Amino acid sequence: MQSITEIKSLRSQIKAWRQAGLSIALVPTMGNLHQGHFSLVEKAKTMADKVVVSIFVNPMQFGANEDLANYPRTLTADKQGLAELGTDTVFTPSVETIYPNGLGVQSFVDVPGISMGYCGGSRPGHFKGVATVVTKLFNLVQPDFACFGEKDFQQLQVIKTMVRDLSVPVQIIGVPTTREVSGLAMSSRNGYLSEQQKNTATALFKELNSCADKLLAGQRDFNSLCQQAKESLVKAGLKPDYFEIAQRDSLKNATLDDENLVILAAAFLGEVRLIDNLQVDINNNNQEKT
Ligand code: PAF
Repeated sequence: MQSITEIKSLRSQIKAWRQAGLSIALVPTMGNLHQGHFSLVEKAKTMADKVVVSIFVNPMQFGANEDLANYPRTLTADKQGLAELGTDTVFTPSVETIYPNGLGVQSFVDVPGISMGYCGGSRPGHFKGVATVVTKLFNLVQPDFACFGEKDFQQLQVIKTMVRDLSVPVQIIGVPTTREVSGLAMSSRNGYLSEQQKNTATALFKELNSCADKLLAGQRDFNSLCQQAKESLVKAGLKPDYFEIAQRDSLKNATLDDENLVILAAAFLGEVRLIDNLQVDINNNNQEKT
């Protein structure tokens, strides 16, 4: 596996692959890779001839009081895992390489509407930072495909919207969430949790499932379903940030006419903010949750 830190070397490698007629898939990450990231790489390998994984802890998407300084950085282990999977190139730029003039004067990409509410409501500026760095990575790598986890469901929809709005020539692939046996969605932030807290954290997925089951059983009082879930989360020891039922593509509040739904949830366990979601399809012939 080739390891690149500079833009010039990345561009010349991309050019060589392009001249050879090879297709490229990008997996953008912030490192501290786990099985969830590896499933993105596996998917990327099935889509394209060459796979580039970027590892960049993007300061622009962290709020002032968030965990940028403490975000887990495990580059050696990350590279080893990526090499074992057969990744072609890992791109690990410095902050100065990505933002040479500093964040204060950095041009940005804003995706209004879909960035608001849910995580966008709790983390102002977060999706502006994500959309900007992802645009930059798309311009550097010029991938045919880019893989993102469905665990960050709003992020996935923000990026799909941005790509559509700005006619970016890349196909966005959403990859299903990888879970622990307990149901807990894999996340780099799970590393902040003790074993006991990990056990408590499973309540989030349990409540998503319970809400999905009620929707599939025909219950349609969305407000009351979300309220019940939040109360159960509190009882389990979590502090709910949001628990909402939305239209899957627009992320607008679900209405009684909608069939393709997503339940989105975020909750704090101590200082750690966990997110998860569950897609639910409701129509008379086909009822399923994924
Ligand atoms: O999902 C993440 O790890 C990050 O938000 C991303 C997409 C790599 C952008 O920094």
